[in-house]
Amino acid sequence: MAHPLISVKNLDLYFGAFHALKDVSVDFDAGELVGLVGDNGAGKTTLIRVLCGIHKPTKGEVWFDGARVKEFHPKLAIDNGIETIQQSVGLCDNLSIARNFYLGREPVKKILGIPFLDFAKMRGESRKVIREFGLRDNVSADDEVERLSGGERQSVKIGRAVEFMNRVVIMDEPTNHLSVREREHVNELAVQLKEQGLLVIYITHDIFQVHKLADRIVIMENGEKVADAKTTDMTAEELEEVIRQGGRKVEKRGAA
Ligand SMILES: Nc1ncnc2c1ncn2[C@@H]1O[C@H](COP(=O)(O)OP(=O)(O)OP(=O)(O)O)[C@@H](O)[C@H]1O
Ligand SMILES: [Mg+2]
Repeated sequence: MAHPLISVKNLDLYFGAFHALKDVSVDFDAGELVGLVGDNGAGKTTLIRVLCGIHKPTKGEVWFDGARVKEFHPKLAIDNGIETIQQSVGLCDNLSIARNFYLGREPVKKILGIPFLDFAKMRGESRKVIREFGLRDNVSADDEVERLSGGERQSVKIGRAVEFMNRVVIMDEPTNHLSVREREHVNELAVQLKEQGLLVIYITHDIFQVHKLADRIVIMENGEKVADAKTTDMTAEELEEVIRQGGRKVEKRGAA
């Protein structure tokens, strides 16, 4: 049988004496939209930071596409095609949309052997994404990100994830502070990414909202995974009850 795209096995992580992740095992497949839910401080962000190489687990294993991850380093995310989308970080306000689009991977062209940033390419590609991702008509690739709304910023980040053929898009509370319309737009984009075969991990506090989008819901509580259920097997109400009860363990992934 094919292996999961990401497999986390018996992961433990301590911050000093604090036990932040407790024996967490979870698999994620390509083409899946997984809602990662749980109360404040449950360990959601910490778990995805391990997947991005920001935190090194104290114990346990992470496998990516069938190979065991040996070194945890932020470059891990880039190497494995993982894009993380958060509300407040990831874009530089005072740079243009085009520059943000290529942040860290700026195309270069050589004139008389001297390297220059290829602004025409950056502008051209980001213009395409601006239109595809439904930004207002009066927004141009040369505009600074500062003047974009929260939803438009998310669209730039999501567009960047698609353009660079990433395999995993992690959204950590991507719709915080967004208007209803912007929220719907970001959610539609999340579904589109999954339909294109990417793995989407969607972190949120809103179980009802994510239940509508997701194939599966994973609930964390106090550093532990306490539920892992297909959305066809458990309703949002049932899952909310698990959270309310402080995480009675539930495992209903169906026959894998
Ligand atoms: N770098 C760190 N050093 C020490 N403790 C940390 C660190 N990062 C997170 N923690 C602690 O680990 C626990 C889990 O935090 P985490 O950010 O993963 O929670 P979360 O589920 O994402 O919560 P929220 O929904 O509020 O974002 C918290 O108690 C937090 O204080
Ligand atoms: Mg968090």
